[in-house]
Amino acid sequence: MKLRNLSCCTLLCALALAASQGTSRSASTDSASDIPHLRKQGTATQLIVDGKPFLVLAGELGNNSTTSLEYMKAIWPNLVQAKFNTILAGVSWNQIEPQEGKFNFKVLDGVIQGARAHNLHLALLWFGSWKNSLSSYAPDWVKRDFQRFPRAQFEGGVSIEELTTLSEANRDADARAFAAMMRHVKEVDGQQHTVLFIQVENEVGMHTVLLDHSPLATQALAGPVPKQLMDYLAQHKDTLIPEFRQVWAANGFKTAGTWEEVFGKGDGKDSVFMAWNYARYIGRVAEAGKAQYPIPMYVNAALYSPGRVPEFTPSHGRPWDVVLDIWRAGGPSIDVLSPDIYGGDFPTFCAKYTQSGNPLLIPETGAGAAGAAKALFAFGRYDAICFSPFGIDRISTNDPVVAIYGLLSQLAPMILEHQGNGTMSAVMMNADDPVQKVPVGNYTLEVTATRPRGASAATPSPQAAPSAGLFIATGPDEYFMLGSGLTVTFSSHSPGAPLAGLGTVEEGTFVNGRWVPGRWLAGDDTEEGDYLFLRNMSILRVTVYHYR
Ligand code: DGJ
Repeated sequence: MKLRNLSCCTLLCALALAASQGTSRSASTDSASDIPHLRKQGTATQLIVDGKPFLVLAGELGNNSTTSLEYMKAIWPNLVQAKFNTILAGVSWNQIEPQEGKFNFKVLDGVIQGARAHNLHLALLWFGSWKNSLSSYAPDWVKRDFQRFPRAQFEGGVSIEELTTLSEANRDADARAFAAMMRHVKEVDGQQHTVLFIQVENEVGMHTVLLDHSPLATQALAGPVPKQLMDYLAQHKDTLIPEFRQVWAANGFKTAGTWEEVFGKGDGKDSVFMAWNYARYIGRVAEAGKAQYPIPMYVNAALYSPGRVPEFTPSHGRPWDVVLDIWRAGGPSIDVLSPDIYGGDFPTFCAKYTQSGNPLLIPETGAGAAGAAKALFAFGRYDAICFSPFGIDRISTNDPVVAIYGLLSQLAPMILEHQGNGTMSAVMMNADDPVQKVPVGNYTLEVTATRPRGASAATPSPQAAPSAGLFIATGPDEYFMLGSGLTVTFSSHSPGAPLAGLGTVEEGTFVNGRWVPGRWLAGDDTEEGDYLFLRNMSILRVTVYHYR
């Protein structure tokens, strides 16, 4: 307790100093509605920070970077140069509770202080019971006491170094630590709002096997499906994720019975059972944290193999889109199910993870030119709350994600204003993709990916990043756009005048929210007014007219 008070005081003193140097965020009032929270705007869900929507242009640090303040000293300046506004940073259960019930938040306080001193926000990643399935961040007092804190098991009784989801002792120990952390975050940050949201655990799901064969799990699997799950399914029967609904339908939509009776004998039953148990456990941990400080919380998923058809594949209990309903039923305190999208088809994963009103929050992905294209697409097409490349400790300031974050931060107020109301869209395309017709405002944009010089249809350039563009209709005949590698033409929705032409095309920048035009583009740069070229990720203001 003494230690906690001391670290609190150190933090507050340092913050007072930072404020006097003009580097700290201004304090705001501490009413519950002022803390970071989610709010709907049309079809979108926005993160509200200090009363205003906030576009999270983030990056995730290496797993252990924020376990050492010394290590972070050299990293903070790089993060500022790279134009992140938010950093996703791990918190180790072992480090904050090295002895049961004795908490030490000194390093966490230093991280919060470091973020404030660099005018950055944080999202904290709670590495508690599980990190990538296993339990490497659990404290030694948990790891050593395998009787009190039982592990999952392979068939045949051999333990796996992952805590079983079926143990109340495991769950309660994690929940107590998480609640203590959230209580502390409220104490030191309930007014400043440096910490915006929380990831609870990391990429959970059974390691290498589909099912936990521990005695606790085996006993529960032989018993009835809990009423809470059955009731949820009955209430949401018509809107369930189709792949999961199919599994329930195949067994006659039973509303009671054992797991096998309700979900059949196959892998589908195991997926539902494990997803339910992870969701119950993590939902309870999230609930305990929210009882202290209810800021938004998400769980992240390691996805299925790139290219694999996302049917109802055995999920290991992971928060995959196919078992979204099970996670909703078991963990109502979890606000968002989030995909870590490294491989596979990015647009498909975005579509899958926005089903049933789930907001898109991408905590892990890649950087580079492909990352920049994905960021545009996620924010423009799917109203993403957050985009975040992984492992950005020493990201180069030449990385295309850094440039795109600079441009997106100029456009952020406009993007946030247009989220959820049908006046914004985006594309992400490869050179050989067919033309995409994208209705935005009063016109349909016909978008083609321009082929990089030297590449032909027969030999497409293998390294070429996808082309991407974001389009915002800011008036009946006005658009702002940002993109690269695309050609755009317009067709009018106006019944009497279907032809559309390009009026004024300006490239420019927003300076303190004010549009400052640079070159005016016509002639060679618009193919004499026929096409708009989106090149090299610059912002364009375009006026359009329709005629007969
Ligand atoms: C996914 C995990 O969630 C991260 O913590 C991580 O270490 C990366 N994979 C590494 O690629």
